[in-house]
Amino acid sequence: MIVLGIESSCDECAVALVQDGKTVLSSVIDSQIEHHKPYNGVVPELASRLHVEAVASVYREARERAPGVDFDAVAVTNRPGLVGSLLVGLSFAKALAFAAQKPLVGVDHILAHLYASQLETEVGYPHIGLLVSGGHTLLALVRGFDDMEVLGTTIDDAVGEAFDKVAKYYGLGYPGGKAIDDRAKGGDPDAFRFPQSRLDKGSHPFDVSYSGLKTAVINQKERFLRPGAVPSLENLCASFQKAAIDLLVRKLKAIVKETGISRVVAGGGVAANSYLRESLSAQQGWEVFYPSLALCTDNAAMIAGWAYHSLVRGDRAGWDLNAESRVPRFKRKYP
Ligand code: KG4
Ligand code: ZN
Repeated sequence: MIVLGIESSCDECAVALVQDGKTVLSSVIDSQIEHHKPYNGVVPELASRLHVEAVASVYREARERAPGVDFDAVAVTNRPGLVGSLLVGLSFAKALAFAAQKPLVGVDHILAHLYASQLETEVGYPHIGLLVSGGHTLLALVRGFDDMEVLGTTIDDAVGEAFDKVAKYYGLGYPGGKAIDDRAKGGDPDAFRFPQSRLDKGSHPFDVSYSGLKTAVINQKERFLRPGAVPSLENLCASFQKAAIDLLVRKLKAIVKETGISRVVAGGGVAANSYLRESLSAQQGWEVFYPSLALCTDNAAMIAGWAYHSLVRGDRAGWDLNAESRVPRFKRKYP
């Protein structure tokens, strides 16, 4: 079965053709980064307008890169994301499925990020999923492609958001994650001893928080400078990155200990972070998976790949399929 996937939940307009949930026949990603750069963040209305302009040509290019290949179904991200952006991909997908008389399926962007590794390797279930992106930070028990139990989440900022905000404050450009990762390479990760949130006690011991770390890095950095250390930007980036990522690794260790599951799968834009990848790979006794860099950030191959399993199960969306900005179970309001 060949699924045509469409992704437009944020600032990437993407179309892919994937066979049997596994083989990527073509994958085209049109990034809007250059357009949003002057604003240091995604401007939702601009994103929607750029999707409207791009979606047909991205579709055409994805078809051209897989000559002679027809599709059996259309899959589209319909949640969570920027509603204006989602609606563009969703409407295009509906028109395509309607005209071709092929089934349509709506895909959850979060579950698709956690599926991305499956496009490159066989990852067994159950596993512990670490979904780290600009909008979400989730630590989850993943029992199947569509069966995810949230064990921990952020109570405030997502980890990618913290990277983006710190980068914005220090003028490192947008998006911030890659910029900080690059700057950190020449820095001393122990120059600043930034605080990590605890939240280890209580009803949600695997939850994380990034607002305190963000405030420390932006407003109080002098307080955390190790005596004698140099307060350079490289050192600041390396120390912030270490604090942000070590927190996730500490929570993962606690989850692995509690569940006895040591197969860990990362996904989402922050899974591209070099220090995160090194830290996960260094864990003794863990089986660690993360997608190649192009499959960490937003793409349509993960959408089409995930949808294959949904279609095989018999799922079909109605023509009334709508966009949803949030998926409530992926956010937790702290009591
Ligand atoms: O998954 P994604 O492309 O979009 C969302 O669904 O949010 O993730 C984007 C996020 C941004 O916050 C970006 O700064 C972050 O991923 N990111 C990184 C790196 N590359 C991208 N964060 C840390 N290190 C990186 N190398
Ligand atoms: Zn994403």
